[in-house]
Amino acid sequence: MSDQGPDLDRRRFLAVSAAGILGLAVGYLTGRATAPVERVVETKTETSTVTETNTVTSTVTRATTETATRTVTETLRVEPRYERVKIANIRDLAEGKPLNTSYMGKPIIVLKLGEPAVGGVGPDGDIVAFSTFCTHMGGSLFYDEKNKALVCPLHYSIFDPAREGMTVVGHATEYLPQVLLEYDEATGDIYAVGFNRLVYGVHSNL
Ligand code: FES
Repeated sequence: MSDQGPDLDRRRFLAVSAAGILGLAVGYLTGRATAPVERVVETKTETSTVTETNTVTSTVTRATTETATRTVTETLRVEPRYERVKIANIRDLAEGKPLNTSYMGKPIIVLKLGEPAVGGVGPDGDIVAFSTFCTHMGGSLFYDEKNKALVCPLHYSIFDPAREGMTVVGHATEYLPQVLLEYDEATGDIYAVGFNRLVYGVHSNL
């Protein structure tokens, strides 16, 4: 115990308490000054929408100019046709006197019948001409003066020269091809100008 007694202890106690309080105060202030500061963090929500629109407009213009020079070579095809061919003169003919000749490469017979005939020419309309190929199987016909008929020696078909070559008797079922004739009154010439039917044995008369 000191001489001052309880007074001295009390002063020490007060001094120590004051120092403590002061320390606390300083500590508080210091701590406050250094304490981390809470900050309000601003939260930003960014929404970004990117819309990209690409519009491509393409216009293509093509201008083409063509200049063509074309040479066309045409070959004219001459269609075959019947020829006009003199086959006799009226002075060469007489009744019962047939004339065998050819027209367009085919054998024919020219007749003066002494009576008008279908397709006949001349002053009396009695001159006719026919293919000599039988329409049955191509036999060579002869003229039967007595009956004024064209006769096939193979199977004896008979044709009437006054009636356009009609079959009278026999196997043949088709008319004889008749030669189309023209007559020149000035000269008496007789011209063949065509056939009226297909000649036996060919695909074309031309
Ligand atoms: S070939 Fe003429 S009738 Fe047969």
